[in-house]
Amino acid sequence: MLIKIKIGILCCFLALAASVVAVPLVTAESKASAFEFGSSGAELFKENCARCHGADGTGGKGPNLASAKRQEKWKASDEKLVNKITKGGLFMPSFGKKLKGEEIKQIADYVRTLKE
Ligand code: HEC
Repeated sequence: MLIKIKIGILCCFLALAASVVAVPLVTAESKASAFEFGSSGAELFKENCARCHGADGTGGKGPNLASAKRQEKWKASDEKLVNKITKGGLFMPSFGKKLKGEEIKQIADYVRTLKE
């Protein structure tokens, strides 16, 4: 009899312990997926720009976007960046048709955070 009660208490305790551990795990997981879900400026950059400008933006086939000199140019507003991304250039493709205006804005915001 006593053993049964003890087992009962132990089970209760284990269930309680499991739920206490499980709750933070679940919230941590959903936070991570919320972060990965949807396309952030960083992801859009990786998908569309990194092959020429490098994963960190420091250049490759295309110029270094992280240089202090370029960052200075874009400090005041997004306009130059948005224009360039929308229209492209001599060797750079235009993204005006491929990406939505909002996505271009997100990429521009991201590009302005790049540092060498
Ligand atoms: C096919 C390669 C290629 C891809 C893809 C590409 N670029 Fe470029 N990018 C270039 C080249 C080359 C230049 C240099 C000027 C030119 O050809 O227009 C350039 C120039 C730029 C400039 C102007 C730099 C300056 O101050 O002169 C910006 C800003 C830029 N790219 C951002 C982006 C962003 C953001 C993306 C992604 C949406 C992207 N590029 C995708 C090749 C590329």
